Amino acid sequence: MEAHNLLVKIDNSIALLTLNRPKQLNALNLQLINNLNQELKKIKTDKNVKSVIITGSGEKAFVAGADIKEFAKLNREEGKSLAKNGQKKLFDFIENFPKPVIAAINGFALGGGLELAMACHIRLASNYAKMGLPEVSLGVIPGYGGTQRLAQLVGKGKALEMITTGRIIDANQALNYRLVNNVFESEDLILKCKELAHQIAKNSSNAISAAIKSINAGFDSSLNGFEVEINSFGSCFGTDDFIEGTSAFLEKRKPNF
Ligand code: CAA
Repeated sequence: MEAHNLLVKIDNSIALLTLNRPKQLNALNLQLINNLNQELKKIKTDKNVKSVIITGSGEKAFVAGADIKEFAKLNREEGKSLAKNGQKKLFDFIENFPKPVIAAINGFALGGGLELAMACHIRLASNYAKMGLPEVSLGVIPGYGGTQRLAQLVGKGKALEMITTGRIIDANQALNYRLVNNVFESEDLILKCKELAHQIAKNSSNAISAAIKSINAGFDSSLNGFEVEINSFGSCFGTDDFIEGTSAFLEKRKPNF
């Protein structure tokens, strides 16, 4: 499928989603959020896809934020709905996606763009990437989960500093802050994301989903992460993947999931 603002390429068990509004620095408007949601729903049940990479088109930006032109005239209630619907449709949906989602941060990841990257399970950045949550400079705060996920990733003190100053940091500082897992030359970024996706794809998809669910549970105050882990651990037993993985070990061969 190829909607004009979202390019989708499925190859070798990886779905590469490229947000494609380069003239607007890939700003996230409602149509793009809807298209991403629709595409991810299809990928969720597509047995040929084991992982997802999200990136931005053009040289300059991953995503420069929520589309300011679209939300500038909204009132309070509409602003609240924008955040609520966006979080549900895209950001929480990605965080709880059962297949690993990797953000390939190829340039500016600001506001909703950094929030999108932070909702992904793993973040790799190009050496040109720049990240920040500058919403307070617009008289608003991050609304797509940024106040929560930035604090989870970099700690409360650094999150407060980044959000209240609106400061934009470069890739090396983001690495230093543990906001990204690794930084690569920009021409290598997608290749490195694909290498990581292939490494993950050698393992059991069922176990990977259970691991994502358990890790996320530890960051959800309504859940007991240890209990979720116990149940998820138990649910792996007897599955085809479990039988294949344990048999392969005992037979001294590589598993074929
Ligand atoms: N929304 C809408 N359009 C945007 C945009 C955004 N977030 N970011 C960039 N654009 C558009 C610009 O308006 C411009 O379009 P026109 O040519 O039609 O005027 C085009 O993209 C190119 O941008 P610039 O000319 O500004 O490029 P630059 O190189 O001079 O600056 C930049 C790059 C520093 C990223 C600058 O574009 C910028 O500051 N963008 C806004 C960043 C921002 O504040 N993001 C947070 C948005 S709020 C949010 O995300 C809320 C939330 O949490 C839900």
